[in-house]
Formats: sequence, structure tokens, C-alpha cells
Amino acid sequence: MIVRNAWYVAAWADEITEKPVARRICNEPIVLYRTLDGAACALLDSCSHRGAPLSLGTVTEKGIRCNYHGLVFGCDGACVEIPNQDIIPKKARVARYPLVEKDQMLWIWHGDPEKADESMIPDYPFHDDRENWPHIHDMMPVKCHYLMLVDNLLDATHLAYVHPASVGGSAPSVHMVAKNVLDATDNGIKLSRQMSNAPAPPVYNNCVPFPGMIDRWQNFEFIAPAFVIQYSGGVEAGKDRATAGAPRFDMRIFHALTPETDTSCFYFWSTANGHETDNPAATDMIDSEIRKALAEDKVMVEAQQERINEFGEDWLVDNKADAPRVMARRAVAKMMQRQNPD
Ligand code: FES
Ligand SMILES: [Fe+2]
Repeated sequence: MIVRNAWYVAAWADEITEKPVARRICNEPIVLYRTLDGAACALLDSCSHRGAPLSLGTVTEKGIRCNYHGLVFGCDGACVEIPNQDIIPKKARVARYPLVEKDQMLWIWHGDPEKADESMIPDYPFHDDRENWPHIHDMMPVKCHYLMLVDNLLDATHLAYVHPASVGGSAPSVHMVAKNVLDATDNGIKLSRQMSNAPAPPVYNNCVPFPGMIDRWQNFEFIAPAFVIQYSGGVEAGKDRATAGAPRFDMRIFHALTPETDTSCFYFWSTANGHETDNPAATDMIDSEIRKALAEDKVMVEAQQERINEFGEDWLVDNKADAPRVMARRAVAKMMQRQNPD
């Protein structure tokens, strides 16, 4: 279930330079690069002469040069130079993909370029608010369908089993009785979880030592087809979350899952520190703690994908905790349906 007419994160803006990067997105090979003027471009990674990957090429003043026989292409995909002839056939062009730089990410539109509407790109202003939300970002390739990571993020009952030493911490019963509020939105869902008088998980305690029990929240917004915006934290049990001072833990995570193939994806994430904003060590600490949790998820979902490759999904049985992910999948199916009504 890959929605084609949708924006996906192709790369972090600072990943892409004049040195071309090859990345398969939605089952197509794409080359990402910047022109000498700094504009970010995305083209099909296959030269229209004999098919060589343009990602093996070089960015020059005129465009990206294929390093097989020297054809040069502009950011719009048109060939602008053939070294051994003056006439450039109209057909000598490669597909170009709309690419927008926003909130420190490069967003690619994989479907019909005529339908690329920039207002559909989710807003994430925290990336540009380093003063209040200093953050660290990265990307991890994962060998699973991108929606399996959405499933993972929206079923927090896995925290107790997959992450006991990181973001889980509490006994399974604490996660099972969390107070959940689930709402549909125009393009996805919102899920908020509240755990009162719960032990602080190791990640929270490593970052901000709490003397006793805490009131914990986890808010997730899923935006179809591939984004989860998370705000999690904790204050001392019984304190008002809006006004409680230290010790408190505030963390935002942006999760973007970009399909690579039907069984693999790129997991882009950023972790932002909202409780000790003037302390870079606190931002580093959140990052290193969350990295541990993401590595734990990767092990589980990659192993799960192997089983699904073998046995399919039709026989799997949902339980109560699957409600958010089922709603999320419906939002993605609705998006697909709107695009391909037949
Ligand atoms: S394959 Fe690119 S120039 Fe020949
Ligand atoms: Fe997880």
C-alpha cells in the first residue's frame, strides 16, 4: 500500500550536497543532489542515453553530468549537452520529481507532478525553533514495509516488551491500563496516552533523574501516509503538567517513514529537547537514549517482516490495542481510494 500522489521525506536537507546520492524511493531509483547554486534536485537515477546511473555522475555548472559518455542534464530533467553533437533530441530527458525544502527536510512528490500541492506537506515548525526545541536528526534504513513502523509507533503496548531498558520501563500492566484518547482527523488520527503515578522509564531517568513516581504522557499524531509527530514527557506525580518545573521531561520526535520498496523503508527521525534547552548535553542524551529504542524496534519489525513475507497477513488477529493502527491504515486506504477511485 504505497500512496504515489503524496509527499515523502527524501532526505534531510543537510544530507544532500553537490555529491549525488542514490536512493530508491517508492520502488524507483532516484538521484538527489544540489546544483552549484545550492538548489536541491531529484531525477530518475538512469541516464537517457544508455541507462547508466546519474548518481555515478558529477555536478557541473550546466547540470549533472553522466560519467559514462558525458551527457549533462538540468534540474528539470532535460538534457542540456551531448559532448559529441550539437543537436539534442527532445526525448533526451529523464524524469524529474518535484522536491521541496521545508523544515530542514527535502520532500519528494512521487506521483503525477501536476498534482504536487505543497500545502499537503505536514508542518513541523520545531525544526526551525532551535532555541526552544534543540534537536538532532538522522535516518536509518529498515527492512520492513513503511506502515509496519507506523503500526509500531501507534501500538504502545509493545513498549513494555521491546523497550524494558529504554523507553518502556514500567511493568506491562502500566502500559496496558494507560488512559487512551483516540480521535480521527481529516488526514489521519490523534492518540494521546496518559499514565498516572507510573515509574519513570530508564530513558527519562537517565535524562532527568526523578525522585519518585511520575505522571507520563505520550501524544501521537499520525498524518497519512507516512508521518508520526510525537510529544512525550513526564512530571512528578500529582503535579500540574502545564506549570510543573524541574524535574520534568519534554521530548518531541518527528518520525517520517519513506517507502524504499514494498518490504523496506527509510526511517527519518529527529529528537528534540524541551526541558533543558540551553544544555547541548541534554539534547545529546535524548538522542542517544532514543537511538537505543529505535534499534530495538528495528530488530523486531525486520524479524516480523520476514514472517509476513513467508505467511502473509490475512490470518493475523487484532486486539484492543490495534484500534489506532487500524484507524491509521484506514486513513491511508482512504487516501489511496481518493487517488484511484476505480
Ligand atoms: S549512459 Fe549516460 S552518457 Fe551514455
Ligand atoms: Fe518502539
